Amino acid sequence: MDFNLTEEQIMIRDAARDFAQSELLPGVIERDEKQEFPTEQIRKMGELGFMGMMVDPKYGGGGMDTASYVLAMEEISKIDASASVVMSVNNSLVCWGLEAFGTEEQKQKYLTKLATGEIIGAFCLSEPEAGSDATSQSTTAIDKGDHYLLNGTKNWITNGNTAGVYLVIAQTDIEKGHKGINALIIEKGMEGFEVGPKENKLGIRGSDTHSLMFTDVKVPKENRIGEDGFGFKFAMKTLAGGRIGIASQALGIASGAYELALKYSKERKSFGTEICNHQAIAFKLADMATHIVAARMLCLKAASDKDEKKNYDQSGAMAKLYAAEMAMNVATEAVQIHGGYGFVKEYHVERLMRDAKITQIYEGTSEIQKIVISRNILRG
Ligand code: CAA
Ligand code: FAD
Repeated sequence: MDFNLTEEQIMIRDAARDFAQSELLPGVIERDEKQEFPTEQIRKMGELGFMGMMVDPKYGGGGMDTASYVLAMEEISKIDASASVVMSVNNSLVCWGLEAFGTEEQKQKYLTKLATGEIIGAFCLSEPEAGSDATSQSTTAIDKGDHYLLNGTKNWITNGNTAGVYLVIAQTDIEKGHKGINALIIEKGMEGFEVGPKENKLGIRGSDTHSLMFTDVKVPKENRIGEDGFGFKFAMKTLAGGRIGIASQALGIASGAYELALKYSKERKSFGTEICNHQAIAFKLADMATHIVAARMLCLKAASDKDEKKNYDQSGAMAKLYAAEMAMNVATEAVQIHGGYGFVKEYHVERLMRDAKITQIYEGTSEIQKIVISRNILRG
């Protein structure tokens, strides 16, 4: 693994930084308050190539490496984690899943539009009774010869209302357990598919989280991804990469909070000096900076494993576990360094603290990452 960034990676990181400053920062507080989806900003992110960064250019993507994606995710997340979760789901769950396992027809029909941001994708695994325990699927996709009949409810779906394409995991053969699960491509507007109300959330409030209801939705067989029964493995393999995206999101939230805290600590005075001159504050900054660098290294390590076609289940889970726990701590300390000002919206750090929390929960909670890591370690 080379720790030096290439010129191209630096260019991509800087482009993401400029975009976040000029297009995402204005209005980020209001979008959070009103739970407003960043429609125009996501459209521009598509135009700039941030929605299908790693997709092969022949399908309209940027053909970039995973490290570039990590760097861009960090920069976007520093400013607006609601926008970055849209980016993460589209890039590393939906585009990657389709590119890795879809048929050529599926790629031509869906991936080309997803990679350019013309449409947004959603990844639908969780259910009211199946979150961490993802094999306990109640949504059914019954084989009817030339189509599946899809019934059930998915919960907490990011891009739930704004997506045009949904990758839905459902049980076809209960007798076969996880080997009887399929992944199906569903289009917005299919008969029997309804979007539930928007969730009113603690953080990432600009993102669009909904439950989805399927009642006798006829899904053509050509919309199945992979062989019959491949759906659970599809979900697990896709989530392994998705976790690198969310780790980078957590890293960005932490970096954003740290940078604000550092700046504030050099401006705010108490007892006749800038507060950064109090060792208690300086040591907090030292801890924050150290943990952020460690998380960045873990994210880049997982990205490098993925690009070098090594197994990244463990390095991705480690990156997500570490970065998520670190982001929650760093953002909380950033609020503390701001004192009372940290508790109000204008200073941004309270939002970053609320946004950090979700990184410990979605795409596998921190406890689930420990299960993945420990199983890998114990298997050797
Ligand atoms: N790659 C390939 N196959 C895998 C795999 C991987 N990374 N992980 C597991 N599998 C396979 C196993 O090999 C096994 O298959 P075999 O029986 O053929 O060997 C099968 O999947 C079942 O695996 P387990 O026995 O390990 O399953 P489990 O019931 O113990 O659960 C788990 C494992 C890791 C806890 C899994 O259920 C899990 O990841 N849960 C968390 C779910 C999650 O992350 N949800 C995120 C939803 S998306 C989201 O959240 C998006 C967003 O917020 C923005
Ligand atoms: P549970 O699984 O009920 O867990 C509750 C608690 O028990 C957690 O602390 C958990 O870590 C712990 N726990 C459970 N089992 C174990 C165990 N074996 N050992 C130790 N501890 C355990 N899902 C999607 O499919 N697509 C999306 O786009 C998506 N977006 C989301 C967006 C938001 C804002 C939110 C809140 C969730 C989203 N999710 C999405 C769902 C998310 O992935 C789940 O919430 C998550 O996987 C946890 O599942 P759960 O909420 O059912 O919690």
